Amino acid sequence: MSGRDDPPGARKAGQVKQVTSFSNPLVKDIKALIAQRKHRQRTGRFVAEGLKLATDALAAGWEVDMLAIGPEARDSATAREVAAMARARGATILEVSTPVLAAMTRRDNPQMVVGVYGQKTLPPGSLRAAIAARPDAVWVALDQVRDPGNLGTIIRTADAVGAAGVMLVGETTDPFAVEAVRATMGSLFHVPLVRLQRAEFREIAQAWPGTVVGTHLKGSSDYRTITYARPALLLMGNEQSGLPDEMAEACGALARIPQAGQADSLNLAVATAVMLYEIRRTDLAL
Ligand SMILES: C[S@@+](CC[C@H](N)C(=O)[O-])C[C@H]1O[C@@H](n2cnc3c(N)ncnc32)[C@H](O)[C@@H]1O
Repeated sequence: MSGRDDPPGARKAGQVKQVTSFSNPLVKDIKALIAQRKHRQRTGRFVAEGLKLATDALAAGWEVDMLAIGPEARDSATAREVAAMARARGATILEVSTPVLAAMTRRDNPQMVVGVYGQKTLPPGSLRAAIAARPDAVWVALDQVRDPGNLGTIIRTADAVGAAGVMLVGETTDPFAVEAVRATMGSLFHVPLVRLQRAEFREIAQAWPGTVVGTHLKGSSDYRTITYARPALLLMGNEQSGLPDEMAEACGALARIPQAGQADSLNLAVATAVMLYEIRRTDLAL
């Protein structure tokens, strides 16, 4: 418990609430955060399911607003420890029944911990300093990515190859949508995201100190023949329409991943993974 002897600036420990009603306002709030992008935007918060994600969020210093914990979690020493840490940082702990957890997440088999966290992205104004700080880095940029599963998978892959961050260019799907967060498997808490307009991206690309490579089905270079000078910036196109000319023109090279069969193209997340592993091949000694 925090009290009068707390050091200045210390957060007050959060409350613990027993919630049994499906119509409790906090349950409704979590439901709305899952279902409505507008509610996520308005409140600057989002939901991530699972104990692993709660552990990742706490370890990475993200703001934890609420943790809803089911009966199973109350029997788990790790979950109790995570809840105690979250509470010490000011989070409200909701002790809920499994049916309430299932209703709030619309899942038959809900995770035993459901967290509400503060959204965090890198301000575009700090991007140039972040790029300069890691001259050997690889960045990923996604033009108008639409599918939350693809976005989450790409964030997870970016984390796996040690990329410096992911730029979300133009109108994109919400990285804080529950499907996207789920697909990141916790990498959301480790990979910086920055939102950019297309014009802002083109400015960044123009001043980029290393290679800017776009991927295109009609790319002039086999992706294995390109020299990826650091820092490297990889630009991927939209799932339906690919890279428009105005974005392709911002790239110093256009890479094609050869295909042998009848498929029109690779899935966006798969193509991103192929590219990232090629770019990082020598660094990762693959
Ligand atoms: C599903 S594809 C888009 C297909 C779209 N119909 C088109 O014409 O580009 C999504 C993105 O994945 C990347 N991609 C997929 N397959 C690729 C390939 N064989 N070579 C290069 N990039 C590829 C590109 O960035 C592309 O914009």
